[in-house]
Amino acid sequence: MDWKRFILILVSNPFIQFIDFIKHLPEIKSINSSMPEYWEKFYQSDDTAWDLGGPTPIFDKWIRSQVDSLSICFLGAGNGWDAFNCAENGHKVTAVDFADSAINNLNSSAYERGCHINIIHSDIFDLGKIFSSTFDIVLEYTCFCAIDPSKRMEYVKITNKILKPNGKIVALLFPIDKDLNNDGPPYGVDLDSTITLFSKYFTLITKEISELSIERRKGREIFVIFKKNGT
Ligand SMILES: C[S@@+](CC[C@H](N)C(=O)[O-])C[C@H]1O[C@@H](n2cnc3c(N)ncnc32)[C@H](O)[C@@H]1O
Repeated sequence: MDWKRFILILVSNPFIQFIDFIKHLPEIKSINSSMPEYWEKFYQSDDTAWDLGGPTPIFDKWIRSQVDSLSICFLGAGNGWDAFNCAENGHKVTAVDFADSAINNLNSSAYERGCHINIIHSDIFDLGKIFSSTFDIVLEYTCFCAIDPSKRMEYVKITNKILKPNGKIVALLFPIDKDLNNDGPPYGVDLDSTITLFSKYFTLITKEISELSIERRKGREIFVIFKKNGT
């Protein structure tokens, strides 16, 4: 039998493929959404369905209504459309992500747009080592639903730590129509339990379903602002 035919049998044999799959199962199972590798796969295969390809209309309206110059931290910034939009509207922006491709894309866009933002390659849960009472605003869109739900209280604590005393979380909570028991990411975001979770450090001051949601997310997300307690 020639080598080409042997290799063909090898790759087309379902049994061998199954053995190969079992062999790789531990490493496949060990990659989860708490790891940058999980997100990197999506960037590498150009499968970033979450990406709006431009600024989020709701945040765009909100940022244009801000009079003072703000220091804003964008968690899980991805390609950074909103981060750049805020910077180009005169604010001091920090964008955080742990996926290599997101960081490369942020750096390329900063260069191409001639727009300076502070780009941090880090797990958001490590930000407490770098920042303390630093930001006026934490901007949140599809990072809270991307992290493992067991880490949500940790998310609340880290936002509390990096925000200034008068700080606020400005967020579009998505998907509010998905049950938390269903697989993610995105993991479902139940509004009432999320407000309760944040209430340890924050008070809800704005809550609105917006007409400006993009078509496929209409009624599935809610614009909220949480203000840091005790100030
Ligand atoms: C669903 S995407 C959303 C990206 C962006 N917010 C948007 O709306 O286009 C989630 C992003 O959060 C990042 N991410 C998830 N968990 C993270 C963590 N623990 N630390 C830093 N980045 C994280 C991922 O790498 C990914 O870029």
